[in-house]
Amino acid sequence: MTTPVLEARDVTMRFGGLTAVRSVDFTVNAGEIVGLIGPNGAGKTTFFNCLTGLYVPTEGTVSYKGTVLPPKPHLVTQAGIARTFQNIRLFANMTVLENVLVGRHTRTKEGLWSALLRGPGFKKAERASEERAMELLEFIGLAHKRDHLARNLPYGEQRKLEIARAMASEPGLLLLDEPTAGMNPQETRATEELVFAIRDKGIAVLLIEHDMRFVFNLSDRVAVLVQGEKLVEGTAEVVQADERVVAAYLGEPFEGDPGEAEAAEVEAAEAAADATSTTSSTKGEAQ
Ligand SMILES: Nc1ncnc2c1ncn2[C@@H]1O[C@H](COP(=O)(O)OP(=O)(O)O)[C@@H](O)[C@H]1O
Ligand SMILES: [Mg+2]
Repeated sequence: MTTPVLEARDVTMRFGGLTAVRSVDFTVNAGEIVGLIGPNGAGKTTFFNCLTGLYVPTEGTVSYKGTVLPPKPHLVTQAGIARTFQNIRLFANMTVLENVLVGRHTRTKEGLWSALLRGPGFKKAERASEERAMELLEFIGLAHKRDHLARNLPYGEQRKLEIARAMASEPGLLLLDEPTAGMNPQETRATEELVFAIRDKGIAVLLIEHDMRFVFNLSDRVAVLVQGEKLVEGTAEVVQADERVVAAYLGEPFEGDPGEAEAAEVEAAEAAADATSTTSSTKGEAQ
């Protein structure tokens, strides 16, 4: 008895002559942690952007709990899908608590006038929001830093805070784009525990990752994207044993971190692509 939470049907995304995602069918069921892997440039982030309404897919549909989603980010969030970004996006000059409160605004019913007049309804809603935000900060282990500015947190904690902010919209599905990028092994292990704990709260998780060990440890199912197409999908054992996957990753070790050198190389390549791309502003927004 599997209940689909997310269903992507025949999703294709083209940028001019380039097909970044090609006819991808993809499902995440309730209670699942699903991994999405693939070499750099495979189309993983583009696919995420199609799921979250940042891009309108050239073809195909995305449904959440049986309803087709309108391709608008705020409507997707409202429906129950939250995400984090490959590059951290926090409000650097806001406090930790404020960052989580920002994530809650899609779930608070108080309107503009109520907020401006700061009537009793607003104050009550504000108190409830703050309580919920503090619960989330306790959950990720950052409650003691509620009043610190986001920019002063170490990198690993900024990543955690992003997850708390995403959870503040009370999602049924959480999408994580490379959550362990730039983390040291201890931070990666802590993130693993955190993802299991999120799943245990009844939130389905879809994660894009570069760190193979992390993905295979966590995921009930793994899908492999290569050149925009879904090559294989299955349990960690099935995917690891597939020769096509091994071939696609030839030269990229299956175990451990991509390493700092490679991360720097990727950053440089992305910066170069940004500089030459005519759609660099859209791309920058969507990463
Ligand atoms: N906004 C865009 N405009 C044009 N091409 C893009 C855009 N976003 C991504 N691409 C291209 O789509 C392909 C897939 O990129 P991406 O989804 O970022 O891959 P991944 O996340 O798997 O590394 C790449 O060739 C990339 O250059
Ligand atoms: Mg990416």
